[in-house]
Amino acid sequence: MQQIDWDPALETGIDFIDSEHRHIVALANHLLENSSSEAIEAVLNELSGCFASNFTREEDYLQRASLPLAAVAAHVTDHTRLLSEFTEILYRASIDGCGTGEAIWHFLADTVLRHQRDFDIAMRQ
Ligand SMILES: [Fe+2]
Repeated sequence: MQQIDWDPALETGIDFIDSEHRHIVALANHLLENSSSEAIEAVLNELSGCFASNFTREEDYLQRASLPLAAVAAHVTDHTRLLSEFTEILYRASIDGCGTGEAIWHFLADTVLRHQRDFDIAMRQ
């Protein structure tokens, strides 16, 4: 695991989205500094709120944007997939506690950043 530097190439130009994405990166980096069970639980709680807020706000935005319907559907479908993976992490955390810190970091560093690169930047203004 290593520090994730925010990549300006992932900027959408939409303030609320970029701000939430930067916060997600900061949460991943926080796990490098503190991977105690309390820190992991705090990050998971924060991520639950972040994902709920970010996905809802992005999907509201997508409904109003003039993007092809297939692109909107693929984006929303990927949110559903991310939430499913995140739910699996929450389940594992309820069983494994501290052992999930690395899994959370990889989920944020790989899966969530890939979503931003593959889907979110299509909203770029
Ligand atoms: Fe998204």
